[in-house]
Amino acid sequence: MKLAVIAGDGIGPEVVGASLEVLKAVAPSVGLSFTTTDFPFSAAHFLETGHVLSDDDIATLRGYDAILLGAVGGLPNDPRLAGGVIEKGVLLKLRFEMDQYINLRPVSLYPGIETPLKNKTSEHIDFVCVRENTEDLYCGVGGFVRKGTPHEIATQTMVATRFGVERCIRYAFDLAKTRKRKHLTLVHKTNVLTFAGDTWHRAFQEVAEEYPDVETAYHHVDACCMFMVSKPEVYDVIVVPNMFGDIITDLGAAIAGGMGIASSGNLNPDGVAPGMFEPVHGSAPDIAGQNVANPIATIDSLGLLLRETGRIKGDAAAVKAGEQIGDAVRKVTPKFAGKNLDRSGYGTDEIGKMVIEAL
Ligand code: NAD
Ligand code: IPM
Ligand code: MN
Repeated sequence: MKLAVIAGDGIGPEVVGASLEVLKAVAPSVGLSFTTTDFPFSAAHFLETGHVLSDDDIATLRGYDAILLGAVGGLPNDPRLAGGVIEKGVLLKLRFEMDQYINLRPVSLYPGIETPLKNKTSEHIDFVCVRENTEDLYCGVGGFVRKGTPHEIATQTMVATRFGVERCIRYAFDLAKTRKRKHLTLVHKTNVLTFAGDTWHRAFQEVAEEYPDVETAYHHVDACCMFMVSKPEVYDVIVVPNMFGDIITDLGAAIAGGMGIASSGNLNPDGVAPGMFEPVHGSAPDIAGQNVANPIATIDSLGLLLRETGRIKGDAAAVKAGEQIGDAVRKVTPKFAGKNLDRSGYGTDEIGKMVIEAL
């Protein structure tokens, strides 16, 4: 397996470093052979060289089986990084250019991890968000009128194409069908966003007819936030547009114990481009360089990378490695009982070693 590694900024290199140690540890036992190639795309690299991410870079990355990404983004309020030059120029460019139209974000309370929710256990917090990843408010459609005047107007347009919405919904139904509860909730705001919402609503209703064994529900996104806190057990699979998906998955991370646990995969399920796997969290400049970041989100993202990529490529050793990483993580999380997952007192490298020991 040929892996491209974009460690990125802030805690990115720390959590990726710990994850690659885990990869080295698991590979021989399952007969997985792999190579890793480092790529420097990040805010730091941009500030040093002026280079963000070119079309040639994307063509190079297409030659890999999968991408592991730590996090990109520099210090807040750095004027040289204004306008999301890195977030748009690296992360979103990769997601869009590679047509990774699914952002898979599991929300599960692992053994021993404490949730801030009262009387909720791992039985109550166990769902997956399927976040649409190439449309919506992320298309960059909009602009200014009379910028810099007292009459300035800014617009930012939400894009929902029938094609893009339907393929995402179909993926979510396929996923729900494989799960025990077989339940899928559409999350949107159709009472206000009556154009984009209507496209989602109709596509959802129509695709649902092809999946009679999947039970469906609809929640407005504000109510979804309330249910995620008060009754997370109502969710099995959620399908959600890009912007709302971004927001509810940070909330999901919080109810599952913290940012240090939340993994994700940006996928092109049609296999036309490699997937990109990354923690849900960012570069966390507030704790960068201190060896305190929790690498579990990235280690678990690596597990997801191996399972998903292995499945697509028919590489049984990779699937097995991914499963073993997932199991090892669940053996380690009880060590966080009574601790704050994100400020546990364990070092980043120490947590990586715990996972290797569990392997
Ligand atoms: P963030 O996720 O980086 O940090 C939010 C809070 O969570 C911080 O207090 C941080 O210390 C904590 N945290 C995050 N990951 C943690 C971990 N593994 N262990 C322990 N604590 C952790 O979000 P932010 O502060 O809004 O963003 C910082 C930068 O990262 C910005 O430039 C943003 O654009 C970027 N960002 C990048 C990605 C990505 O590359 N995928 C995702 C989100 C944000
Ligand atoms: C995420 C991040 C990104 C997003 C940003 C950094 C562009 O918040 O991966 O959740 O909004 O998708
Ligand atoms: Mn986010």
